[in-house]
Amino acid sequence: MKTLVISGATRGIGKAIAERFAKEGINVAFTYNSNEEVAKILEKEWSKKYNIKAKAYKLNILEPQTYKDLFKQIDEDFDRVDFFISNAIISGRAVVGGFGPFMRLKPKGICNIFTATVNAFVVGAQESAKRMQKTGGGVILSLSSTGNLVYTPNYAGHGVSKAAVETMVKYAACELGKFNIRVNAISGGPIDTDALRAFPNYEQIKAEVEKISPLNRMGYPEDLAGMAYFLCSEEASWITGQTFIIDGGTTFGCKE
Ligand SMILES: NC(=O)c1ccc[n+]([C@@H]2O[C@H](COP(=O)([O-])OP(=O)(O)OC[C@H]3O[C@@H](n4cnc5c(N)ncnc54)[C@H](OP(=O)(O)O)[C@@H]3O)[C@@H](O)[C@H]2O)c1
Repeated sequence: MKTLVISGATRGIGKAIAERFAKEGINVAFTYNSNEEVAKILEKEWSKKYNIKAKAYKLNILEPQTYKDLFKQIDEDFDRVDFFISNAIISGRAVVGGFGPFMRLKPKGICNIFTATVNAFVVGAQESAKRMQKTGGGVILSLSSTGNLVYTPNYAGHGVSKAAVETMVKYAACELGKFNIRVNAISGGPIDTDALRAFPNYEQIKAEVEKISPLNRMGYPEDLAGMAYFLCSEEASWITGQTFIIDGGTTFGCKE
């Protein structure tokens, strides 16, 4: 049975992606940061409902090197790693100085977001690629966001880090292709999750999205899960080094 390793699957987009893979009969090794109780419930729920192995592990993406120990633990519990999705994102105190108007940005906050987005992707992808090489290949994905394409108030730290991770994806794709490992990014428009609800102007963003999206609604976590599954499937066997935008038409900003 194939195995997905995904960071931050207790809620939001990560949860929707993990459940989609579980539904397809794929084992899921997923991480949580603070919501251990929720993680334990999901572990049991997914194992039982989808007849797969689901196991939760603690991870702090502000300490990317700890991915090495995490993968050692995963090796004990699972035979192989076929897919790795770098999804987790930091919020709250950790993003102070990184999430805010340009004139209030501070190096520490920007560094934290960069670490959580880019460095965590790098170490997680390296550890998974080592394992994928042994089994003939695999797929690595990073979540990104259209906040590097459209101006989004307070989002500079995240937007810049997402631009960086998209470029890192291309470099990884170039160097891992020879091992039959494909690497891509999924860039989401505004998706209704805790991360977005934490924005001080959430209601305003929601109203704006409903106006400019031709589909007149916010995105839901499930809207990204299908693309993640497709990119990990054989249907996508010649797709690598790309970023796929799933934004409900919001980036073009249709204001009919
Ligand atoms: N929401 C959007 O509009 C949107 C749009 C495009 C792309 N994205 C991207 O999609 C991904 C998921 O976003 P989301 O909106 O689903 O986020 P979310 O609802 O805030 O969930 C964040 C996840 O990351 C985990 N996490 C938080 N702090 C962590 C830390 N320090 N170390 C490790 N894990 C940590 C959380 O675990 P606990 O529950 O245990 O704290 C949770 O599982 C992110 O990369 C985000 O940038 C989001």
